[in-house]
Amino acid sequence: MFIESNREIQLVRRPVGLPSKEDFQLVSRPVAELKEGEVLIKNLWLSVDPYMRGRMLERKSYIEPFGLNEVLSGGALGEVVESRNELFPVGRKVSSMNGWREYFTSTGDDIQLLPSTEIADQAFLSVLGMTGMTAFTGLTKIAELKQGDRVFVSAASGAVGAIVCQIAKLKGCYVAGSVGSEAKARYLLDELGVDAVVNYKTAENLQDSIAKACPEGIDVYFENVGGAHFEAVLNLMNDHGRIAVCGMIDQYNATAPQAGPGNLSQIIIKKLRIEGFIVFEHWHDYPAFVEQMMQWIEAGKVSWKETVFNGIEQTPDAFIGLFKGENTGKMLVKLA
Ligand SMILES: NC(=O)c1ccc[n+]([C@@H]2O[C@H](COP(=O)([O-])OP(=O)(O)OC[C@H]3O[C@@H](n4cnc5c(N)ncnc54)[C@H](OP(=O)(O)O)[C@@H]3O)[C@@H](O)[C@H]2O)c1
Repeated sequence: MFIESNREIQLVRRPVGLPSKEDFQLVSRPVAELKEGEVLIKNLWLSVDPYMRGRMLERKSYIEPFGLNEVLSGGALGEVVESRNELFPVGRKVSSMNGWREYFTSTGDDIQLLPSTEIADQAFLSVLGMTGMTAFTGLTKIAELKQGDRVFVSAASGAVGAIVCQIAKLKGCYVAGSVGSEAKARYLLDELGVDAVVNYKTAENLQDSIAKACPEGIDVYFENVGGAHFEAVLNLMNDHGRIAVCGMIDQYNATAPQAGPGNLSQIIIKKLRIEGFIVFEHWHDYPAFVEQMMQWIEAGKVSWKETVFNGIEQTPDAFIGLFKGENTGKMLVKLA
């Protein structure tokens, strides 16, 4: 099969501040005919993720920066449409990091077959994929969650945050979170059974509002936001509290270094443990995570939401929307 027009999104300019559509371009390129051992994948779903913002900068990090005028890579879920590799028959669904393009060829080294399950395929880009695994790893391994912990989660209605809230409730914890809209607050309270929610956009005083939501203090903070959230929570942590530092989305579009919290001595006073993590370093635990999460999903104990943009040309809008709070649950782009 010769694919004459494979559309892909390239980064053409390193964003300054909030990314804009002009930082990206849609390019059409043919895909080469398959060689022996290769497969042709048609992407069906693309994932857009906040960490990609960091890769748009030219700087040393835990992962290489994106190149200019090159296709962006990100989580994707696709279908084998032509195969010269018996391990990947036509019709099978695969996940990969070869997103932000409609088609790609693979030797099989960079794609993983999806297990056959009743659960919608795109769940492997959210609750059963990297974001679910991040929630599980951060809570259980990094924060060493215990039954009865008082947990606070920032960006609590997002892809990671909403799963963190549900796992913590399943483990018998008191759970409060912060979100940027009343609709998101209602989702957490009414659908996920979270105990208290703070709308950080309307709160007169963020620390007072979090204190009210967490009347017995905070044992575990799942940090997704940073900035004012981090400073406020430090003052509200209980002795020997644990903070899993997952993300700091409040800082990702900063154009100058941000002032640090003025209350770091709380780390000593409260004897806190603060640990950052990158989920990919824990990927050897993924099979155990999937088994556990499948059980929870099948028992109706964990649910998830998706916010879906349609068509590859909408991918930059979906990505930029992450920084404007346009998603509840996982932000995805549907291609087919
Ligand atoms: N360490 C790792 O391995 C790892 C892996 C995956 C994700 N992460 C991190 O986890 C966090 C959540 O990722 P996700 O994929 O689940 O994204 P997400 O929470 O689904 O989407 C981003 C959400 O963050 C909130 N937000 C955006 N800008 C904000 C700001 N300035 N202040 C406060 N809230 C803001 C928005 O919700 P509101 O409407 O509530 O503002 C938005 O919907 C991110 O920081 C990400 O970088 C880390």
